[in-house]
Amino acid sequence: MHITDFSLDHFSLRGKRAIVTGGNTGLGQAFTLALAEAGADVFVPTLFDDGGETAALLARTAAGYREQRVDITEEGAPARVLDACVDALGGVDILVNSAGISRIADVTEFGRELWDPMVAVNLTAAFEMSHETAKLMIPQGSGKIINIASLFAFLGGLGSPAYAATKHGIAGLTKAYADELGSHGIQVNAIAPGYFNTPITEESRSDPAANQRIVDHTPAGRWGDVADLMGATVFLASRASDFVNGHVLSVDGGYLVR
Ligand SMILES: NC(=O)c1ccc[n+]([C@@H]2O[C@H](COP(=O)([O-])OP(=O)(O)OC[C@H]3O[C@@H](n4cnc5c(N)ncnc54)[C@H](O)[C@@H]3O)[C@@H](O)[C@H]2O)c1
Repeated sequence: MHITDFSLDHFSLRGKRAIVTGGNTGLGQAFTLALAEAGADVFVPTLFDDGGETAALLARTAAGYREQRVDITEEGAPARVLDACVDALGGVDILVNSAGISRIADVTEFGRELWDPMVAVNLTAAFEMSHETAKLMIPQGSGKIINIASLFAFLGGLGSPAYAATKHGIAGLTKAYADELGSHGIQVNAIAPGYFNTPITEESRSDPAANQRIVDHTPAGRWGDVADLMGATVFLASRASDFVNGHVLSVDGGYLVR
C-alpha cells in the first residue's frame, strides 16, 4: 500500500459481521456499539437479559443486531454460536471475547468452587470461541479477534488469583493465536481496560479510600468511561490495524506506567 492510499475509510467496518460475547451490558455493550457505529452488524451471545436496551441503542445506527441467550461454557455451545451467527449474519469477520466474570474472596477461602467457573468463562470459553471462529476465518483469509484482558494481565491483584491467572492466560492466548493465524491474514490482539465506572466497580468507587487510591494512581486523574474503549475497539477491528498482531493494548488512562 502506498501512503497516498490511506484514508479514514480504513477504519470503516461497513459490511463486516461481528460477534461480541457478553456484548449487551457493561464494557461489552460499548464494544457492540462501537462496532455498529463503524458499520458492522453484531451478534451477541449472552446470559444477560437487558430488556432490549442494546437493541434500542443500536437502532440509531444502520447495523443489524441479534442476541442469542446461551451459556458459552456449555459443551458444544461455541460451535452453536458460530452456526447461529452465520445463519443470522451470513458469516463472521470480527470476534470480541468480552464475556467475563469476577469472584473475590480471601486467599484461604478462594478454592476450586470460585476458580473453576472463572477459568471456564474467562479463559476456556474465549479459547473455544476463537477456535471455532478460526475455522471460518482461515478459509476466507481474513479476520480480527479481540480478546478483553485487564490490568491483571500484567499485575497480581488481591482477592482473586483466578482473575489474574485467567487474564494473564488471555494475554498468552492472544499471542499464541496471533502467531498461528497471522499467516492467514487474521490479526489477534487484546484490549486491557483499566478501571472503568461500570456496575462491577461500584463497590470500589463508593469506598472513598479505594476510589482515591485508584484516581491518584491514574495519570489521567479519573476513572474510565466505557466510551473511552470505543476508539481502540474500532481500530483493532478494522483494516487500519492490519499490521498490528499479538498486541495487548492497555486503555487505562496511564495506570500501568505509574
Ligand atoms: N468493568 C471493568 O472495569 C473491567 C475492567 C477490566 C476488564 N474488564 C473485563 O471486561 C469484560 C466485560 O466486563 P463487564 O464489566 O462488561 O462485565 P459485566 O458483568 O457487565 O458483563 C459480563 C457479560 O458476560 C456475559 N457472560 C458471563 N458469563 C457468561 C456465560 N457463561 N455465557 C455467556 N455469556 C456470559 C454476561 O451475560 C454479561 O453480558 C470482562 O472480560 C471483564 O473481565 C472489565
